[in-house]
Amino acid sequence: MNTLQGKVAVVTGGNSGIGYASAAKLKARGANVIITGRSEERVGKAAAELGVTGIVADVISLSAIDNLVNQVKESHGNVDVLFVNAGIFIPAPIGQITEEIYDAQFGINFKGAVFTTEKFLPILNDGASIINLSSINAYTGMPNTAIYAATKAALNSFTRTAATELAPRKIRVNAINPGPTETPIFGKTGMSEEQINGLAQVMQQRVPLKRFGQPEDIANLVAFLASDEASFITGSEYNVDGGMNVNPLLS
Ligand SMILES: NC(=O)c1ccc[n+]([C@@H]2O[C@H](COP(=O)([O-])OP(=O)(O)OC[C@H]3O[C@@H](n4cnc5c(N)ncnc54)[C@H](OP(=O)(O)O)[C@@H]3O)[C@@H](O)[C@H]2O)c1
Repeated sequence: MNTLQGKVAVVTGGNSGIGYASAAKLKARGANVIITGRSEERVGKAAAELGVTGIVADVISLSAIDNLVNQVKESHGNVDVLFVNAGIFIPAPIGQITEEIYDAQFGINFKGAVFTTEKFLPILNDGASIINLSSINAYTGMPNTAIYAATKAALNSFTRTAATELAPRKIRVNAINPGPTETPIFGKTGMSEEQINGLAQVMQQRVPLKRFGQPEDIANLVAFLASDEASFITGSEYNVDGGMNVNPLLS
């Protein structure tokens, strides 16, 4: 099913988790894929495994995004699919929110996402698909996620406005809200393995389908929204969460 044959797709944060699985899926559907990330070693390793192009670009830096766009333009020309996926999660209860925790998450999850779209816009083909990776946290009051959740709520709001403004160019903009998904993101929070396992147990119980999401569950929707099969879909959000948003109190 080569629905993306010959398309150029950029995946930010593509060296791990959901971005990695999505890069693999987009490539399998025929796209020429570029992944990005913060570390030369991690990006290089993932790019080699996936057989795609890897470019180091930390989205916290606007000049790094400029460099990324220039490199993509030089190596691949214009872009058809922009998967704005790079993100971090720093849990902290209200009362212990520091400026660093605030700036890091808003800097990467929201400002980084906004300027990824801004900077790529000149080299996006008309009819391109932008997919913003948000979270069901945008709509929940899950403890310790106040700032993370706010970054995702902001991203969903940006998605809606971008969809209307970019419609004249037939550029579609949609968001995906995953529920808990098994990726390395939790190991990067500073939580111990025991804490992560405890959290996973609790969260899994609250998912009606009684399992964590897998990165491929999200990648399947990314590939669909990227394709012309989704050509009448813009300004929308999709929960991919095993039903968690329907009844978060289910036990
Ligand atoms: N896993 C979940 O349960 C879940 C649920 C809802 C939403 N999400 C969202 O899904 C997205 C992907 O997360 P994931 O779960 O797949 O986690 P992950 O495995 O940690 O992947 C995140 C990716 O983003 C990259 N990244 C982080 N900061 C970056 C920056 N400043 N510039 C460029 N790349 C950066 C990471 O690179 P490094 O290798 O350098 O860290 C990594 O490649 C995030 O936006 C996250 O908020 C995840």
